[in-house]
Amino acid sequence: MQVLIADDDPVSRRLLQSYLQKWGYEVSAAQNGAEAWRLFQGATFAIVITDWMMPDVDGLELIRRIRGIHRPGYVHATLLTARSQKEDLVEGMEAGADDFLTKPFDRDELRVRLRAAERLVNLEQSLAEQNRILRETQAALVQTEKLASLGQLAAGIAHEINNPIAYVTNNLVVIRRDTQAALAALDAHRRGDSAEAARLEQEADIGYFRENFARTCDKTLEGLHRVRDIVRNLRDFARLDEAEFKEADLNDAIRSTIEIVQHQIKAKSIRLESESNPLPPVLCHPGKINQVFLNLLMNAIQACTRGGVVATRTRAEPGEGIVIEVQDNGCGISPAHRSRLFEPFFTTKPVGQGTGLGLSVSFGIVRDHGGAIEVDSEVGSGSTFRVRLPLKPPTK
Ligand SMILES: Nc1ncnc2c1ncn2[C@@H]1O[C@H](COP(=O)(O)OP(=O)(O)OP(=O)(O)O)[C@@H](O)[C@H]1O
Ligand SMILES: [Mg+2]
Repeated sequence: MQVLIADDDPVSRRLLQSYLQKWGYEVSAAQNGAEAWRLFQGATFAIVITDWMMPDVDGLELIRRIRGIHRPGYVHATLLTARSQKEDLVEGMEAGADDFLTKPFDRDELRVRLRAAERLVNLEQSLAEQNRILRETQAALVQTEKLASLGQLAAGIAHEINNPIAYVTNNLVVIRRDTQAALAALDAHRRGDSAEAARLEQEADIGYFRENFARTCDKTLEGLHRVRDIVRNLRDFARLDEAEFKEADLNDAIRSTIEIVQHQIKAKSIRLESESNPLPPVLCHPGKINQVFLNLLMNAIQACTRGGVVATRTRAEPGEGIVIEVQDNGCGISPAHRSRLFEPFFTTKPVGQGTGLGLSVSFGIVRDHGGAIEVDSEVGSGSTFRVRLPLKPPTK
């Protein structure tokens, strides 16, 4: 462990240095505060022992500077001083010192205080490591959840795309056949063979073709637009190109997410009521916010029986941010389950249908945006999930 010593008194400095080296610490010694500050900035010290009274940069100022810069890992700071009044202790601690050692210091006391400092630094390090692992696990969970929900949706989306593709294909076959027949009749006319032309027109049912041609083309275009919209929504939903925070209109976000679950809504004959009020732009991670809406919508749909009602509402809350509600008239949530909703892997759904990650991941995402999720629910009458988001996350 690297220790930085700052003391302008050569005797005391050498004494400190020799003890610490004997106990196995890696020691750097500075003759004054300014030198100590320079050394500190150039290396990573876990423990700093500094004299209080030094010319220019004194011990208090050194500690204040150390506390003022942000670096990973905790730095334990001990003030070494002849001042031993209670007020001195308060002043030193307020500047950011962790410990005090009065001069002339006692060797054994120095040793045990250093050990205590080491314990703290080690604890902080293992805490930081645990935190890192937790964050990694959380990121992996978010990814798993995203894949799971996309998996659930893939079949529905494929179906939504296949439908228009099927009738676009049919229409094109019909248009091709009829156009060819019409052209053959036209050729016969040009040749002056009006009997053949009449026969061909009859055979191709030109009257019907004339009446329906424009409509069939319109229908075909409509189908292609539908496919284009689905693909556009999918892209908006995934926002694959945007890894960062950006300003977004969350009405668009909820609209594209509703499109993504369109198949599930139709398959259960759910009535969807959507009320969107104008929203100010929200600085957020749109892809992740979409994931939250998707989770809430899927839960609402899954909670409903056939013919149920799911309602979404958005509104601005002046001075606060925005609110988005997803309401259903489904089964509701029992009081016993209420406190467990946001636990990872808590699910009441059969194996294969729910992983129990939806709400826990949503909770993490909303929290990272500085927002909150509220739940109102009554067994038998339904639930409302309310997401509150500030216009920008607290740290942005
Ligand atoms: N709108 C709702 N109505 C009734 N119960 C709900 C509703 N939303 C969530 N729940 C309850 O909360 C549990 C946890 O929800 P969560 O979204 O975290 O997981 P899941 O839906 O079970 O699985 P996953 O979302 O991972 O597919 C659900 O199993 C269900 O019991
Ligand atoms: Mg869910």
